[in-house]
Amino acid sequence: MSITSGDNYWVLESGGAAYALGVEPLGVLTHTHWGPKLPRLADYPKAARPAFQILEHEMQNLPQEATTGEAGDSNERTIDGISADGSLRGFVLRFDKAEPVTNGIDIDLIDTAQSVRVTLKYRTLDRFGLFSRSLSIRNEGERPITLDRVFSGTFHLPQLGDFALNSLNGRWADEFGKVRQPMAFGTFARESRRLTTSHRSMPFFAVDREVPGLRASEENGEVWFGALDWSGNWKMLAERTRDDRSMIHLGLNDHDFAWDLQPGGIFDTPRAIFGYTAAGFGAMSRAFHDYVREEVAPRRHYQPPVVYNSWCATTFKVEEDKQIALASQAAAIGCELFVLDDGWFSGRSGDDAGLGDWWPDPAKFPNGLSPLIDAVHNLGMKFGLWIEPEMVNPNSELYRAHPDWIIHFPRRERTLSRNELILNLGRLDVQDHLIDVLDTLLTNAAVDFVKWDMNRNVSEPGWPDHVGDQRELWVRYVEGVHRVWSELRRRHPDIIFEGCSGGGGRVDLAMMVLTEQTWISDNTTPPARLEIQEGYSQLFPAGTMAAWVTDRIKGDFLDHDNGDYSLDYRFHAAMAGALGIGGNLLEWSEEQRDTAARHIASYKILRPLIANGDLFRILSPHETPYSAFMYVAKDKSEAALFAFRTHVSRMGAKPRIRLPGLEADAVYRIEDTGVELSGRALGVVGIDLIMNNFESILWRVTRTG
Ligand code: DGJ
Repeated sequence: MSITSGDNYWVLESGGAAYALGVEPLGVLTHTHWGPKLPRLADYPKAARPAFQILEHEMQNLPQEATTGEAGDSNERTIDGISADGSLRGFVLRFDKAEPVTNGIDIDLIDTAQSVRVTLKYRTLDRFGLFSRSLSIRNEGERPITLDRVFSGTFHLPQLGDFALNSLNGRWADEFGKVRQPMAFGTFARESRRLTTSHRSMPFFAVDREVPGLRASEENGEVWFGALDWSGNWKMLAERTRDDRSMIHLGLNDHDFAWDLQPGGIFDTPRAIFGYTAAGFGAMSRAFHDYVREEVAPRRHYQPPVVYNSWCATTFKVEEDKQIALASQAAAIGCELFVLDDGWFSGRSGDDAGLGDWWPDPAKFPNGLSPLIDAVHNLGMKFGLWIEPEMVNPNSELYRAHPDWIIHFPRRERTLSRNELILNLGRLDVQDHLIDVLDTLLTNAAVDFVKWDMNRNVSEPGWPDHVGDQRELWVRYVEGVHRVWSELRRRHPDIIFEGCSGGGGRVDLAMMVLTEQTWISDNTTPPARLEIQEGYSQLFPAGTMAAWVTDRIKGDFLDHDNGDYSLDYRFHAAMAGALGIGGNLLEWSEEQRDTAARHIASYKILRPLIANGDLFRILSPHETPYSAFMYVAKDKSEAALFAFRTHVSRMGAKPRIRLPGLEADAVYRIEDTGVELSGRALGVVGIDLIMNNFESILWRVTRTG
């Protein structure tokens, strides 16, 4: 860690990157540098100064660490608020003090008229070459203040550049699509207004230069990047001013947001984790992966079990005998965990009943879950159970008892989505109820794994009996989810949790604290899935990425055309993450089950590499008719190369791919072909990829000298 301070200026260094700030003569905290580490402290500018322009306010041009719209600045604001009597709008912040803390610095700014103290918190995450920042607002006055925007930070890009925002966008079953968008004049937004992070976009940015020859690639080029540590509504504004300054503002969404800050009250924003690299998008992703695995994840260096999940095979038609039959086939091919998905609890014969009543359906499980769980355990597997605790069906005992526990507007119809309503987890009584009911469930049944789902977006976001501004719901709900989930983790520390929100509807850094793995999409069709997986890999490591091999399914709930792809191809796509099987094993031929057993056995050998190695993306299915990537062991002793032909295209040439990330002077053998070459030759000259449509390879590369 390195924080150097001069006379009211500070430099934070982490890995090869530096972030610097300083107070200018008026007392405004300005941003001075975000980029490569510089050789000497004296190299960093001490404070920014506004460029004078006639007919422009000076603040307009000043790169402020917390922008407030002060003195005519018409750019986007980092924070905004209003005193309760309406007499004072906005903030005017001046430097008060700076306090070094472990791994960072807290810088206090004050607004004397509003009696508000804003603490900007900067930390270095040295082992990963990353930083974090957040802010905290304290009302030191005697009047309440309503906060209506509280971003975690405004990030200034180097002045006078042309930049492009790379972001991840999608929708249900089509998550994590990569989009590159030049930052032209004006502001554009990415956001979620859906209560959760959402399928539609990720609170993540990677900015590179929009200059021919200077765009970043996987291996080269400057990237300024960041992500928000938050599981609810968020907003990101990419702003380029007419003065050619470019900024990213990131934080909680101010849409329909308000926070009632009483005298003495403090509001803390989530953290933004951010960094800079000159070594391209690959280096950015590897920094995030290491950070998640080593600092965030509940279990360090987690290696996912091979899962069998019966959802695709049986949907709601759960019968004890059939589940046991599936479990014994799953065990026979090498699965390590059997997950009973939706359909097991009281009244659950379709999606229109039962949510909220978290006990086994007496018709389906007359003797409770124990016979099935015992059978699974006797087969040598662990047992997992699906829940969707934040939701309730109107047709449930819980709803009949507590219709007021729902997020709703009085006097308006409650909109159903998948026949569900959302419990208001902002409420303490609802949180306590869920902790109690789920604790009982997990105490009474020998459950080793929980898949926690969340299948709808919010509507009518009201909280009629909240003491305070109802618009606090957006934040208090998310805090409630985290409280319930963390408490269950505390009480059941051995249980592994899988996060899911209709696939990837709630995937973010904050969820990585609660979950060992994530069901990232309901789309399991390999070519699409490989694109989704590549998007996910921008931020999150492969060991957290649950991926199933499924069958061709056409039904009310599922529609996968997987039968069109060979079983090898489907396995290879799923083996790139936390391998799971979702196909109906009772209908698989012996030959198919043998193929499955063979792939599962080799997955177990490669698993440490996939879960904890360094990812090098080689060919993107977003840009080429191929997907190719490699996981390289940290000590570079071995690697696993995955390659797929994902699209039919007119491109006739067979690509030659370079295998990056290996030790240049070491010799490696590609076990499957017998080719032996130095790491340098593999990295510079590469190998030919000869592959027909929808064929795939998974090759093991080992160091031989
Ligand atoms: C949505 C999930 O993404 C699926 O995997 C499955 O668990 C269903 N919900 C069950 O209702």
